[in-house]
Amino acid sequence: MTRGTRLTGASLLIGLWATGIAAAQGCPDYSSYSTQPHQPLSNGSYHLGYMRPDPGCRTFNISDVESTITSMASSISDPDLYRLFLNAFPNTLDTAIRWKGVAADNPDEELTFVITGDIDAMWLRDSANQMQSYKSLLKASTDRNSLASLYRGVINLQARYLLESPFCNSFQPPIESGIAPATNGAAADDNVTPPYNASQVFECKYELDSLAAFLEVSADYYSETGDASFFGKFNWIAALQAVLDTATSMMTPTYGNNGTVLTSPYTFTRMTTRSTETLANNGLGSPVAPGTGLIRSAFRPSDDSTMLQFFIPANMMFSHYLEQTAKIADRLGPDIAGPLGPRMHAFSAELREAILRHAIVPDPNAGQFAGNVYAYEVDGFGSSIIMDDANIPSLLSAPFFGFTSISDPVYKNTRGAILSNTPRPGPRQYNSNPYFMHGPVISGVGGPHQGPGYAWPMASIVRILTSDDDDEIVDELQMLVGSTGGLGLIHESVNTFDQNRWTRQWFSWANGLFGQMILDLKERKPELLKRSYQP
Ligand SMILES: *[C@@H]1O[C@H](CO)[C@@H](O)[C@H](O)[C@H]1NC(C)=O
Ligand SMILES: *[C@@H]1O[C@H](CO)[C@@H](O)[C@H](O)[C@H]1NC(C)=O
Ligand SMILES: *[C@@H]1O[C@H](CO)[C@@H](O)[C@H](O)[C@H]1NC(C)=O
Ligand SMILES: *[C@@H]1O[C@H](CO)[C@@H](O)[C@H](O)[C@H]1NC(C)=O
Repeated sequence: MTRGTRLTGASLLIGLWATGIAAAQGCPDYSSYSTQPHQPLSNGSYHLGYMRPDPGCRTFNISDVESTITSMASSISDPDLYRLFLNAFPNTLDTAIRWKGVAADNPDEELTFVITGDIDAMWLRDSANQMQSYKSLLKASTDRNSLASLYRGVINLQARYLLESPFCNSFQPPIESGIAPATNGAAADDNVTPPYNASQVFECKYELDSLAAFLEVSADYYSETGDASFFGKFNWIAALQAVLDTATSMMTPTYGNNGTVLTSPYTFTRMTTRSTETLANNGLGSPVAPGTGLIRSAFRPSDDSTMLQFFIPANMMFSHYLEQTAKIADRLGPDIAGPLGPRMHAFSAELREAILRHAIVPDPNAGQFAGNVYAYEVDGFGSSIIMDDANIPSLLSAPFFGFTSISDPVYKNTRGAILSNTPRPGPRQYNSNPYFMHGPVISGVGGPHQGPGYAWPMASIVRILTSDDDDEIVDELQMLVGSTGGLGLIHESVNTFDQNRWTRQWFSWANGLFGQMILDLKERKPELLKRSYQP
């Protein structure tokens, strides 16, 4: 599925699958609200709109988020940068907490249905990251109106989804919400094994990072609250088991020892004109070699199909969050968590080892300065793809999600290749990353999802989060502030020559990530927030 139809300020086309959000009485649908700048405009030369809904139309209130927004006014000097922060940071709370309640069979089991934004469904990846925007404000609380409660609700609902359909990426409202399932026309004729129930699942693309997202949101909740007992109460252990079993099953190679084609636990085909929306080999995907210790992913975090199934950023992310989540299982102990703790520690270490053995390859463009880089995808037979895509997990984001550090020499080489934004001298004037986009409005990493010519602000945000270089950070902030088409929100992608041509007017995760990055800068480099970002 194309997650966003390409939109321009002038012609608004809402995807067929996007059902209107039945907002509180009298409240505008944010899908259209977010396409026009609202008063008062910011005082800088970008004149950015005020894009928060009226207080009565916001979907959740957290006073710590409001006080953070207020206090950041004195930390950010540039009026346009501050306006972008003010609009973006609360976007998930303001617009995307579609329903919050409890399980029908257990009033103690909180449930939070978080939509991605303009699509009325909950992605495992997006919802984990939408919560992560507020991680720095998370603290232990039993209050049902707290961030802690929102997190618990997301974790419980993700656990339910994973027990229903562990290969799927995006899900329908819980039955308790009374919200009708969204129609996904694009998926209607998908041919998927294992089969799923369309009343529960919005789309069933198997993506390893969706499984990692459940570990991420669990580890984030635990690290900030220390509340281990929550994880022993509902279905978390069973869901964790399902995550590990699903990932392990997807280590199945293509061929058995005697040449037989092994049965893949997951296959997917779709009737489509886009090659990235279906899998090669009648739904199997491209062949992978045995014995690598890597886990397959049929799709990328863009929801586009992988070219080679050992998608390295998700393997990195899964390895990292296995280790983090194992701490919860350790705390719960074998009586509650059984053998899961030791199994996760071992799995994490083996996966890291497999990545270092199979995914570090020479950069073919480095010439005499040859250095090794992390490949984006490999197949274990010797083929690799050198590129990066904006969506997290990406190679650029590997230090952000914790797999490695920015001083890792292989990461440094990889970063150089991914961000090779100046043409190389000599006869080979091309860059290492075929999806690095250039232009006067914004230059940055894009991806096949929206195609050449569209850079993704999300990648510019990640570039800041993984940089210690003031000049690089300032350049990226300048581009982000100056490329919103006057709307003051973070779009999915932006045409590198025309900021009024963008995709997805309402993409809550990217907005939250922008806020998360600004709060990180406030800690790391507060002086950069005192600068002017005027053109
Ligand atoms: C813009 O500047 C005017 C005049 O200094 C001030 O009254 C107003 O509050 C400012 N607006 C914003 C949104 O900062
Ligand atoms: C959030 O607070 C505003 C008042 O500031 C109120 O009108 C609104 O109903 C609250 N929203 C929720 C979801 O509680
Ligand atoms: C599909 O899910 C819905 C909602 O949970 C449920 O009512 C229905 O019985 C399920 N259908 C099947 C075939 O399991
Ligand atoms: C080949 O190996 C598979 C499992 O690895 C086994 O199920 C199958 O019977 C074997 N076939 C032959 C012809 O040996």
